[in-house]
Amino acid sequence: MARWLSAGGRCSWRRLVVCSLTCLLLLQLYSFSNRVSVEVEKMKLLSALHPFPLQEHEQVEGLILLPPFGLKYPHKINLNEEFLNASSTARTIFFPIGAVDPRGDAKNDKHYYRPGKTWLDTDGNPIHAHGGGVLFDEKSMTYYWYGEYKNGPTYHAQETGTARVDVIGVSCYSSKNLWAWKYEGIVLAAEEKNETHDLYKMKVLERPKVIHNERTGKYVMFMHIDDATYNKASVGIATSDSPTGPFEYLHSMRPNKFDSRDMTVFRDDNGTAYLIYSSVRNKEIHISPLSQDYTDVLNETARALVGHHREAPAVFKYRNVYYMVTSGCSGWAPNEALVHEAESIFGPWETIGNPCVGANKDFRAATFFAQSTFVIPMPGAGPGSFIFMADRWNPNDLRDSRYVWLPLTVRQRNERYVGLPLWSRVSIFWHKKWRIPVRENGESNYVIDLQA
Ligand code: DGJ
Repeated sequence: MARWLSAGGRCSWRRLVVCSLTCLLLLQLYSFSNRVSVEVEKMKLLSALHPFPLQEHEQVEGLILLPPFGLKYPHKINLNEEFLNASSTARTIFFPIGAVDPRGDAKNDKHYYRPGKTWLDTDGNPIHAHGGGVLFDEKSMTYYWYGEYKNGPTYHAQETGTARVDVIGVSCYSSKNLWAWKYEGIVLAAEEKNETHDLYKMKVLERPKVIHNERTGKYVMFMHIDDATYNKASVGIATSDSPTGPFEYLHSMRPNKFDSRDMTVFRDDNGTAYLIYSSVRNKEIHISPLSQDYTDVLNETARALVGHHREAPAVFKYRNVYYMVTSGCSGWAPNEALVHEAESIFGPWETIGNPCVGANKDFRAATFFAQSTFVIPMPGAGPGSFIFMADRWNPNDLRDSRYVWLPLTVRQRNERYVGLPLWSRVSIFWHKKWRIPVRENGESNYVIDLQA
């Protein structure tokens, strides 16, 4: 070494620098390979916890479109146009034939969600719980799904031309396993004759959500109440002593005098609940805490996503961070979902991007041709696993609107994954067919009574 240094003057120094650089490089390589194997281990763990992310489906149901008359070559397909075109030959891509039927005893099909297919209840009738939300009732250990019962003919409102179905009411379905749903009836019915009533059948009742108030013991329903022109822009409130109703309609209001259209309610871990709604003609999202009995809002309004024009808010919380999935505003036509996050429910809310993963670009840019309505924790799955509930509206026949339920996962802020640079921290994974994770013996972790 001494010779090396003394004899060779400049040359030795050069060698020394080269040597040090090589060592540094080797060290870097060593630590990188360590990090890679830690990440790979994490991926393995993640895939064990969430079987979904690694089974990303790129393929969308066989896309076969006939070229227009006279053209020899298939034209470039605009999936959005095809989706809205009632006579499109691509119809079955969006509204596939066949149904999810909980009555069938075909073992292979049990508990599988098939987004976009007609979903039957335990009596064999199509489920009508559109724009809905799910409540888990701890007393009865039962899930209740409430939604718009749109089981009527579609027509166009005279004033606006918007496709609509007369209000029939809010439906309720119960389930122990989130897959087989028993129809519990209309728990809040439309008003047939009194034209001045908020629930008059020719007005608008959308996006009902129910939360339970532990102090009063009441089940409290919030919903978007409007007139046929969407100018009343109010929120309606109804209560019941039982999750299966009947609900008594109290009144509608404009929260703190603000217009309110698409909305949801979110009950936090400490029992405080919030109304979250699109306001100022959908330009912004407002968040207001509810009174202790949940039948009013407090005089407090946080404004979020100002100027962003978002609707269909679905709020959930994971490890003290609040998340909100929203859609753009394009009537019944699908558009791109975005996820926003905040450390306080009052904000600031930061937009973290489009959560849709898989299928193809057009599907991802249109929220898999659906619109957010609610997010619930996925029972029996790993931490950060949720179910994203969305509506695939059919503006040509709203009664035939479908459901798109998909796994949604949230990663911690500091979690990084090798090889998955395009995946957003909050991801909704496309699947033509999937089910909630099961135990080794094939039984679901969470199923209490399969016959429910
Ligand atoms: C989008 C909303 O999210 C739906 O609830 C419904 O109001 C439609 N607009 C009506 O066009």
